[in-house]
Amino acid sequence: MSSPKTDRAALEAFWMPFTANRQFKAAPRLLSRAQGMHYWTPDGRKVIDGAAGLWCVNAGHGRREITEAVAAQIAEMDYAPPFQMGHPLAFELANALIEIAPKGIDHVFFTNSGSESVDTALKIALAWHRVRGEASRTRLIGRERGYHGVGFGGISVGGMVNNRKYFGSLLPGVDHLRHTHDPERNAYSRGLPAHGAELADDLERLVALHDASTIAAVIVEPIAGSTGVLLPPKGYLQRLRELCTKHGILLIFDEVITGFGRTGSAFAAQEFGVVPDLITCAKGLTNGAIPMGAVLVRREIYDAFMSGPEQSIELFHGYTYSAHPVACAAGLATQRIYRQGLFEHARSLAPCWSDAVHALKGRPHVVDLRAYGLVAGIELEPRAGAPGARGYEALVRAFESGLLIRTTGDTIALSPPLILERADVDQIFETLAAVIDRIA
Ligand SMILES: Cc1ncc(COP(=O)(O)O)c(C=O)c1O
Repeated sequence: MSSPKTDRAALEAFWMPFTANRQFKAAPRLLSRAQGMHYWTPDGRKVIDGAAGLWCVNAGHGRREITEAVAAQIAEMDYAPPFQMGHPLAFELANALIEIAPKGIDHVFFTNSGSESVDTALKIALAWHRVRGEASRTRLIGRERGYHGVGFGGISVGGMVNNRKYFGSLLPGVDHLRHTHDPERNAYSRGLPAHGAELADDLERLVALHDASTIAAVIVEPIAGSTGVLLPPKGYLQRLRELCTKHGILLIFDEVITGFGRTGSAFAAQEFGVVPDLITCAKGLTNGAIPMGAVLVRREIYDAFMSGPEQSIELFHGYTYSAHPVACAAGLATQRIYRQGLFEHARSLAPCWSDAVHALKGRPHVVDLRAYGLVAGIELEPRAGAPGARGYEALVRAFESGLLIRTTGDTIALSPPLILERADVDQIFETLAAVIDRIA
């Protein structure tokens, strides 16, 4: 049998997501095994994981506790319908999640991905205003450069042009806040950038334009990940919270990337001391092992739906695989691992991580460095006339050098499993420095 690595025809059928298919299939990068901080390629090459897969394997690869829980659950009960029926693990996992959620956020709606979590949160926001008698609040506000997955709701409130421009007119009644990336004032900031809290006042502009009575919700990522790791300016999220409260607008934090310890706290909401009304999450919820997402909701929002006749369904929304028993088993095993001090470990390594990121200053093409918790953005200057080419070259060279990174445009995004140790930090940055030095 020919190896898929050399046989291009064998790679043809799979239309790969967010991938340059022809380029990939001409020179595939395959992963076939994973353990701890590492992947292995089919030909046995070891690759250190600088991206936690795709920001999701927070507890590291191949965790026995998760594998065993999944295997046991699939043998015990493979599937149970979530509509008008329940199974014990779903309730147990919801309780485990509210234990680590910010105070006041104490209900959980299960989904299967970040994109579904975003669409669910937007729908809950719209329905909440309606059940409270403010049905005129239908407008949704996102932010330029935001990423909220790929559903029509998510791309409508999202602000990355390539994710939007091919897909028609999207949802009506959506507007966007200005993004917060301001390298002129904030390049090479250590920790959160000092400048830009006033950008939250952009919400006042949209309120003046549309009137608060038409606005249902604002959705932002506390740290904008997919657009290149943009950290919130000091005071920005606080200001946004104040303005949403002032105008009766729900605030949604999309914590699909920042949830489950990435910043050193369970959620960025706690890290930055700002409690939103809803939190979307996915990825690290099950350590990436089984697809699952969730929307965490403030009690008052849930309570508002719990009126009317008891026999009536309160929210006409849900998925066949909401609270899938195997995903719940993976989620519970994952949360048990997290409770063994993993977030604290991430926090303790953050200063060493930040030092290593900022030590790249002065390397060729580097124009900004951003680090927080165990996440980093390394912005390279685009090659003249070829935006994204340097980023792609970095990805390929890093992989050839035994390091998995994520790139978006010309920014390298790093988000390793939270289990990493100082020696892993050294290895990641020694490799990356050599890669950057060789980029044309
Ligand atoms: C902030 C944010 N929201 C939503 C999503 C979408 O998640 P998924 O790919 O699981 O649908 C992502 C994925 O990276 C994300 O970073």
